[in-house]
Amino acid sequence: MSVSVVLGAQWGDEGKGKLVDILAADADICARCAGGNNAGHTIVVPIGPEKVSTHFAFHLLPSGLVNPNCTGVIGNGVVVHLPSFFEELDALQAQGLDCTGRLFVSDRAHLVFDFHQIVDGLKEVELGGKSIGTTKRGIGPAYSGKASRSGLRVHHLFDHENFAIKFRKVVEGRFKRYGHFEYDTEGEIVRYKALAERLRPYVIDSVTYIHQGPRRRANALMLDLDFGTYPYVTSSATAVGGVCTGLGIPPKKIGTVIGVMKAYTTRVGGGPFPTEQLNDIGVHLQEVGREFGVTTGRRRRCGWLDLVVMKHSCLINGYDSLNLTKLDILDDLEEIKVAVKYIVDGKEIEGFPADLELLAKVEVVYVVLPGWKAPITSATSYDALPENCKKYVVFIEQFLGVPIEWIGVGPGRQSMLKKEANKLA
Ligand code: GDP
Ligand code: IMO
Ligand code: MG
Repeated sequence: MSVSVVLGAQWGDEGKGKLVDILAADADICARCAGGNNAGHTIVVPIGPEKVSTHFAFHLLPSGLVNPNCTGVIGNGVVVHLPSFFEELDALQAQGLDCTGRLFVSDRAHLVFDFHQIVDGLKEVELGGKSIGTTKRGIGPAYSGKASRSGLRVHHLFDHENFAIKFRKVVEGRFKRYGHFEYDTEGEIVRYKALAERLRPYVIDSVTYIHQGPRRRANALMLDLDFGTYPYVTSSATAVGGVCTGLGIPPKKIGTVIGVMKAYTTRVGGGPFPTEQLNDIGVHLQEVGREFGVTTGRRRRCGWLDLVVMKHSCLINGYDSLNLTKLDILDDLEEIKVAVKYIVDGKEIEGFPADLELLAKVEVVYVVLPGWKAPITSATSYDALPENCKKYVVFIEQFLGVPIEWIGVGPGRQSMLKKEANKLA
């Protein structure tokens, strides 16, 4: 078995889906290990003899599914909202993507119910001005239920009587905590009986299944429950360790780990963002980069590339190589800034601070690099890129000490340049 891991290196939306789609062309299985339908991946693929550029939106299902020979697995570490699972599957099938017999869900995955989504909203209201800015997909409440050992897993669906008893108890608990909110508990129990039957052919013991061939997977470091900007994070392990716990893969079976990083930084929702640009630059990145969420449609916050964040990300995930994405979005800029250190009270701080109060005080030190002022989307090789563009790439890889193997110069599957990965430029 050979496992390649694809991880988001920043705050999400780095373009993981696109790399996963490319790598899945030679993979048997594309598996997700954490998160739920809070994710949003846009894949742009030329389809049919006319090569019509087709957009696919993935949320819960693995984005490798665009490749007809790849099987998608939703691992035990994922939280699954069944109505969304079928909605997404139906939308993909309607676009001509036949997933019959090549999509599976772990029997150990936890379920997200509509009441989790309601509670997600109520928790955000309670936080007032300090809200996390979640996707309101019920992710946090579902993982809380899992950690407090009251969660319901996929296998529970198939013992309907016990499912109903447990379900009522969990909902009662939520009413006690949040006051009575509008929710049709009995109606849900009936609905889940039908959903369970529809789900049955997709359910597998994913541990046994996954140990039978090569696989891939993705997620974002700065949203990790432990290593991200807590509490402005998601509720699962999105760092490399989540691959082992979320799929049941031993660390020694992991072959390559590829980090996906945008050529600048974006973040959706609340929380610290030291290089955020609340000015013309931020607006330029938003507009040229079309930085609007695929899941919630929210405008993504934008700023310069932060190599302090990236160093933290590299230390934890130990990338073998990087995929630098959306480099084309910087085409028109006169000069490009890159954050290289944080200073507090005149001293450089080591690492990325855990304490958000301290983080709010940091002075960001930038290096300014010249722009290339030329369109790069039609470049077909790394060598064909403008000199200043190559200098930007080389600066990043030398600073991080990790080779950049892939470079995204446009949204399409074909707009990905391969750079020699074995040596640093
Ligand atoms: P993910 O969540 O990490 O998979 O990323 P998203 O799909 O949420 O966001 C990335 C967006 O950028 C998508 O709309 C992609 O089609 C697009 N994209 C990916 N790579 C590139 C690139 O190199 N250049 C440009 N212009 N767009 C890209
Ligand atoms: P992909 O896979 C960007 C963010 C939310 C919020 C925080 C917690 O497309 O990169 P949650 O609903 O998970 O409890 O929200 O995490 N977040 C993401 N931001 N891309 C994502 O997924 C995200 N998944 C969660 O915006 O700040
Ligand atoms: Mg996304």
